[in-house]
Amino acid sequence: MGEHDFRELIREVDRYVEDLYAPPDPALESALRESRRAGLPRIQISPVEGKLLQLLAATAAARRILEIGTLGGYSAIHLARALPENGTLLSLEIDERHAEVARENVARAGLAGRVEVRVGDARELLAGLVESGAGPFDLVFIDADKEGYPEYLEWSLKLSRPGSLILADNAIRGGSVLDPQDESARATREFNEALARHPRLSALVLPLLRERVDGLAIARVLEP
Ligand code: SAH
Ligand code: DHB
Ligand code: MG
Repeated sequence: MGEHDFRELIREVDRYVEDLYAPPDPALESALRESRRAGLPRIQISPVEGKLLQLLAATAAARRILEIGTLGGYSAIHLARALPENGTLLSLEIDERHAEVARENVARAGLAGRVEVRVGDARELLAGLVESGAGPFDLVFIDADKEGYPEYLEWSLKLSRPGSLILADNAIRGGSVLDPQDESARATREFNEALARHPRLSALVLPLLRERVDGLAIARVLEP
């Protein structure tokens, strides 16, 4: 099979799974439409990855979720839908404009009561959360600047308990993590290696095939 055929097959398989398990949904469609209209970059997770996040959050019976990197709230809507009535999702976003669009999208999805979008550099907001004794969170989803991943992992561990899930988008980056010379993927490689060797984590990276190869890191916090 040629490379072109393989890419086409990947696209078709993704579409097949999406049509069956992540069909169009009014709140998600309008979140994408409004995000596009506001000029936000189109770098949100895919519908299939969203469904995976929702399944993982529900399976973990997560009541408190922390997200790092909100954008227009597309992933936040998926995660918040898995929460029970009194559950909460706190999402950290550096860009005030992104946060505004996200709050509107979340409200349109009927989830405003469960979701807080907090504006600031995640590094500072995470330090503040630890400082104030926030957490533990049942699930953390890391999806902000890739340079920050190693540091976000350390903060996530501080804000977790045994049994918590730590997830991270873009763990493969089109395969660039495979090239030890690729500086743009250095922090992601460092993150993946830290996950692999961390004594308090059981983890893997699940490759996700869409337009390009990427991956979702999935880690479970173990007993100390
Ligand atoms: N999780 C979103 C996509 C997030 S894109 C979704 O799938 O729907 C990455 C986001 O991280 C962008 O909105 C960007 O503004 C934000 N970001 C980048 N650096 C950040 C930082 N240091 N602190 C907090 N947010 C940051
Ligand atoms: C890109 C994709 C992402 O999922 C993300 O979180 C940040 C950037 C990108 O394709 O550039
Ligand atoms: Mg991402």
